[in-house]
Amino acid sequence: MRGIGKEFMDKTRYKHMEESDQSKGLPQPPLELPQEEGQMVIALPRPEKLALGHADLREVIEGRRSVRAYSEEPFTVEELSWLLWACQGVKDIVKRPATLRTVPSAGARHPFETYVLVNNVEGLTKGLYRFLASEHKLAAVNLDDDIADRVTEGCYKQRFVKDCAAAFIFTADLYRMYWRYGERGYRYMHLDAGHASQNLYLAAEAIGGGACAIGAFYDELLNRALGIDGENQFTVYVTTTGKKQ
Ligand SMILES: Cc1cc2nc3c(=O)[nH]c(=O)nc-3n(C[C@H](O)[C@H](O)[C@H](O)COP(=O)(O)O)c2cc1C
Repeated sequence: MRGIGKEFMDKTRYKHMEESDQSKGLPQPPLELPQEEGQMVIALPRPEKLALGHADLREVIEGRRSVRAYSEEPFTVEELSWLLWACQGVKDIVKRPATLRTVPSAGARHPFETYVLVNNVEGLTKGLYRFLASEHKLAAVNLDDDIADRVTEGCYKQRFVKDCAAAFIFTADLYRMYWRYGERGYRYMHLDAGHASQNLYLAAEAIGGGACAIGAFYDELLNRALGIDGENQFTVYVTTTGKKQ
């Protein structure tokens, strides 16, 4: 087999790696993208106060399936807080500096900026938000009426993106990973995304919900809908969630 995929795997072998920006002594980028001026910010219920998710691990793993049809029952803000914490929550900020989260990440680079398309969460206006992981808050990004349609269109027109309670869109802020690992960092970002999505599956299952991973998306359309440039920041993975029918 020959093609761009094989070339990618070949060229990201260690033998081809050049000195990284970290090794050259260049400064480390910030742990998260800054909040934009004038953005509405919503504090989420603190994870340590949530009485949620105390489920039997074996049952949760056995029960997990990809769920594409959801009930009309909304998530509560507590449940959304739980899901965000489970997939990207910050447990500690250590000296390096680096965040330590509920999921592993190569070199603790944690390259993701997580967007949430809120369709059906009690007390939250529908629209697109960004998770401010260190503060455990949500920043409103786009509350236009057509945003759910635009994100759905970007997700290969998969209808359940609009019909779920909340869709999580994991975008990578490339340089956070690239600074340490160079071209090989592209591999690690995609590996990291699997952990985030899997935690979301399990966390949803633990509260009577379900999830479905989405790898089929039109990069340009989706990145444009999110308002990100697709070069320095781009979508890696999407996961829908909602209560089971
Ligand atoms: C990387 C990846 C991409 C996926 N993309 C999609 C997708 O775009 N649309 C979809 O409906 N399901 C998608 N799925 C879900 C798979 O179809 C599902 O995991 C598979 O059929 C096995 O079913 P199960 O998850 O219920 O065990 C994806 C799963 C993974 C891991």
